[in-house]
Amino acid sequence: MSIVTNKELLDRAKAGHYAVAAFNTNNLEYTQASLQAAAELNAPVIIAAAKSEIDYMNGYAFVAMVKALAERLPIPVGIHLDHGPSFDEAVRCLRYGFTSVMYDGSALSLEENIANTQKVVAAAHACGVSVEGEIGVIGQTTDGPEGKKNEMAGLADPAQCEQFVKATGVDCLAAAIGNAHGLYARKPELRFDLLKDIEQRTGVPLVLHGGTGIPEEDIRKAITMGVAKINFSTVMRKGCIETLTATLNAHPGELDLMKLLTPAKQKMVEIAKHHIMMCMSDGKAWK
Ligand code: 13P
Repeated sequence: MSIVTNKELLDRAKAGHYAVAAFNTNNLEYTQASLQAAAELNAPVIIAAAKSEIDYMNGYAFVAMVKALAERLPIPVGIHLDHGPSFDEAVRCLRYGFTSVMYDGSALSLEENIANTQKVVAAAHACGVSVEGEIGVIGQTTDGPEGKKNEMAGLADPAQCEQFVKATGVDCLAAAIGNAHGLYARKPELRFDLLKDIEQRTGVPLVLHGGTGIPEEDIRKAITMGVAKINFSTVMRKGCIETLTATLNAHPGELDLMKLLTPAKQKMVEIAKHHIMMCMSDGKAWK
């Protein structure tokens, strides 16, 4: 169908009580797998890349790849910068042709986060591009003891979320509610009380990061409380690497790279489909 903004995707998702799955990518196979899964399920989808992934692929090549693949599919697709670290990176992504940028100033003071996000919003909105902001610090696998997720890296304060959204005009908000990136050391305990309060105070579609390992019932519950975008990354990489390792072990000396990569790509299609269905966005692509 077409390349659309995250605002278009998330406003519809929130109204329709489902979430759009956002899959991080850093190569052709990931991107093909995410788009194939979404197309087979007739689901809207977001292809996301963080700065390191953009640097790896080249921003222009990444956007050209997503566009070339997506424009021939009957589904709406967003192209998103994940955890943009600076105003400059957000502006580069505007130039590459992204339809959504995240500015992550969550490690800064609220005042600095607001000031920087305002600049990103002004530039992005002038180009018709959506902006995602972040409040509270969403942990990384390396934050916690023994390299495990520290789910309590920094919970979002609902009053700060309200102030942030009003002051910046972001189109959606990632709020830390006990979620974290990577593999959870134990079942995450999401703070649904915070989520409900944040939704009521801000009214914007909310974004749940660290989708890998969040149980299906929690994903469904979060969606009833205004979550309209859920990010998945580790689960796709893990499935890809495990399948690729098994294929390499089963075919020592194989020199046909496509033969080695095809099962890994197929595994990622299955994983992406499973998570799209968890988000209840299957069948939600519009004409
Ligand atoms: P996971 O790697 O835990 O799925 O998190 C992805 C994410 O939130 C990207 O921003």
